[in-house]
Amino acid sequence: MSDPILLVENVEKSFGALRALGPISVSLKAGERLGVIGPNGSGKTTLINCLTGTLTPSAGEVWFLGRKVTDLAPHRRARMGLARSFQIPKPFTGMSVLENLLVPLDHLHDVADPRARAMEVLASVGLAGRAGHEAGGLTQLELRKLELARALAGRPKVLIADEAMAGLSDREIDDVLAILERLNESGVAVIMIEHIMHAVMRFSHRIICLETGRLIADGLPDAIANDPLVQKVYFGEQARH
Ligand SMILES: Nc1ncnc2c1ncn2[C@@H]1O[C@H](COP(=O)(O)OP(=O)(O)OP(=O)(O)O)[C@@H](O)[C@H]1O
Ligand SMILES: [Mg+2]
Repeated sequence: MSDPILLVENVEKSFGALRALGPISVSLKAGERLGVIGPNGSGKTTLINCLTGTLTPSAGEVWFLGRKVTDLAPHRRARMGLARSFQIPKPFTGMSVLENLLVPLDHLHDVADPRARAMEVLASVGLAGRAGHEAGGLTQLELRKLELARALAGRPKVLIADEAMAGLSDREIDDVLAILERLNESGVAVIMIEHIMHAVMRFSHRIICLETGRLIADGLPDAIANDPLVQKVYFGEQARH
């Protein structure tokens, strides 16, 4: 079945006089792995915020599972199965790792045994052994995994991972990629926003590239890597760092 599970139609978002995003149209199929790349400030997080409901678009529509969700609150979309992890992990630092999972599970109505579900999710990201530890004492890798676990608690149909590998070593990146691959193999569509090019190229079935809020390319990873416009705006920028 090829109907889109998630659809953005002519979405725009402005902050005062600055048009940060759009107009942009993007679709995601069930089970797909979509990479989102683009230079700093190109609108990637703004797009994700419009998808999840953190921001209301200035124009255009967002559809999820055949329902118009443009004005639906983030927690309602989350309950429908749209989950995201944040670019900057925001754990509850005074709580244990397990308690950090129980908080989002508390907001879901249909979890029979939240503690068992929390342990199951922690095990799926390799954090079961840290369940009793205080979240504030986690390493960068563990914080990234906890951020993913919190997003996965409600068994989403789509996971949006906003720079889930930033600041990690190559070995740690492999670790997170393996988690996302397993998750995708279990049927969850993944949108990966990422500056780490080898990771997003390896993971994605399809990649879109944004520049100043506009979609400048949409295609297979190989085609994106060789697209002259993408190379100019994105790889050219990376090369200067
Ligand atoms: N809440 C806001 N108020 C005003 N301007 C904003 C706001 N959020 C984002 N912007 C601006 O919108 C543009 C797009 O920002 P956005 O965070 O979406 O970029 P990004 O592609 O996610 O960048 P990065 O790769 O650095 O995370 C930038 O110019 C940014 O400064
Ligand atoms: Mg961003």
